[in-house]
Amino acid sequence: MITIKNKATIRKMAQAGSLLDKLFKELTLRVQPGVTTAELDAFIAQRLAEGKMLSRTKGYKGYQHVSCISINDEVVHGIPRADRFLRDGDLVSIDVCASLNGYCADMARTFCVGNVISLARQLNDAAQQVLDKGIEQAREGNHLSDISAAIQQEAEKHGFAVVRDFAGHGIGKNMHEDPEVLNYGVPGKGPILRAGMTLAIEPMITTGSYEVVIERDGWTASTADGSLAVHVEDTVAITDGQPLILTRGMGIVREDA
Ligand code: MF3
Ligand code: CO
Repeated sequence: MITIKNKATIRKMAQAGSLLDKLFKELTLRVQPGVTTAELDAFIAQRLAEGKMLSRTKGYKGYQHVSCISINDEVVHGIPRADRFLRDGDLVSIDVCASLNGYCADMARTFCVGNVISLARQLNDAAQQVLDKGIEQAREGNHLSDISAAIQQEAEKHGFAVVRDFAGHGIGKNMHEDPEVLNYGVPGKGPILRAGMTLAIEPMITTGSYEVVIERDGWTASTADGSLAVHVEDTVAITDGQPLILTRGMGIVREDA
């Protein structure tokens, strides 16, 4: 069942989203050669604690970290490790889901470490455009699959492939709610979108094939062909007008406004 959130709920999710937005801005400076993914996870844990936020990945199905950090051919669910050092040229996707006063926001961005090959930069720039195209379709009256189709179309327009094995999702008091938001498909299918629905939209795109394999750690999903992958995600609220991107500081209504 897809739940409709009232304005007060969306405001709470926007507060969580705004803190994640700030956190990711700070991460930009810290994603540098020589830092370990465990150190980045510890930094994120510290910031979440300072913001009175609760990680929703720590404890989820036994996962022990507040972030997923996926490098190069890793697509999603990379596990932070003390022996994993970032190197010049790495392409690093960081995913964080946390709640504030019980309301979740989910966000991911991909960072380039130092000088990356131009294909990596192109992939990351394309992913951001792909996400924007998907979000643009998160409008009252559209079908759910209009989002999916826009994502696939934009990714393939850039010559990249969309991973099929993972999807976006509804979000609210829980990290994962209905509906599942596929990153591929044809338009005009699935439920009609209504104001008050809140979605985490999260395309994963690769420079090669869309097939993934799960590493022996049981979590990390990597491209089957070793091609580069990126993952970006925003939490969005559907309104009767423009979508509110809660993880970009939108949807915070000033009390005096
Ligand atoms: N933030 C992830 C998502 O976008 C949550 C799952 S990561 C896990 O859905 F490691 F906790 F499973
Ligand atoms: Co998500």
